Amino acid sequence: MRSLRRRRRRSSPRAGCEAGGFRAREPGPEIARNLRRAVTRSEAVALLRAAGVPDPLGDTARLERGSDGADAFAEAIRRRAAREPVSHILGFREFWNGRFRVTPAVLDPRPETETLVALALEEPFARVLDLGTGSGAIIVSLLAERPEATGVGTDISPEAVLVAGENAAALGVADRLILPLSDWWADVGGRYDLIVSNPPYIAASEMAALAPEVRDHEPRGALTDEGDGLGAYRAIAEAVFAHLEPGGRLLLEIGPTQARSVAALVSEAGLIEIAVHPDIDGRDRVLAARRPA
Ligand SMILES: C[S@@+](CC[C@H](N)C(=O)[O-])C[C@H]1O[C@@H](n2cnc3c(N)ncnc32)[C@H](O)[C@@H]1O
Repeated sequence: MRSLRRRRRRSSPRAGCEAGGFRAREPGPEIARNLRRAVTRSEAVALLRAAGVPDPLGDTARLERGSDGADAFAEAIRRRAAREPVSHILGFREFWNGRFRVTPAVLDPRPETETLVALALEEPFARVLDLGTGSGAIIVSLLAERPEATGVGTDISPEAVLVAGENAAALGVADRLILPLSDWWADVGGRYDLIVSNPPYIAASEMAALAPEVRDHEPRGALTDEGDGLGAYRAIAEAVFAHLEPGGRLLLEIGPTQARSVAALVSEAGLIEIAVHPDIDGRDRVLAARRPA
């Protein structure tokens, strides 16, 4: 298993949005919008910095590596200065041990979600369910690490399921993964020894303060339940007991302030051994629980 510590330097757009968002500073975006010529690396860094991009040096390097020639690099910098996510400009994101295709239809997989993957791999599992699979980042990574396991990854978004299918094929796990469209449990059957989910957990009232990369470019349905941010956890808690094998585990990604509320929900659902684990930045990020054996 890879070290999480090694990956600390990576940017984390949803972590950024939780901190209240990065405010764009004029006139960076204005200059970048009018960019019609090649840019040097130092000009690119200055443009991104002026646009309020949180990691101008790192993003310049990533975009330079991913661009085919000077014109493509200038275009990539123009898009990044307009606060488009790097993953949308390049079309992919490195997550765990794989390169995942990312489109505007799916959440850009976050480094902090690798905490959940690492915890999942601490125990054996044969059948895994991922609720709200998005790009498939979690379940595809898990199946790639456990060649004997099979999985089901659901999503309410047909576009997301297609992207997850492409990633499953590219990473060699498609023959062990089913990807049904489902509104949480509506079309899910069977029992699993591991259930994972990174559901939409941002409250509707927090959406306006998100970083532009997140608010303006990621699917709204992947970010918020349009309520208090706990709606998806309530829905998951309703039927999780029935879909876990005795002794089976639940791992939920949570927002840093949600541990107590989500713990109460899964406790009411009959699960035990509830524990909260921090991410690489030390903030509450994954809630683990178990169905009694
Ligand atoms: C935060 S994203 C997580 C994506 C991916 N698992 C990851 O960690 O990168 C939440 C996902 O839940 C899906 N979703 C939202 N509401 C849903 C629902 N009612 N039923 C199933 N999936 C839903 C969204 O479409 C989105 O793909």
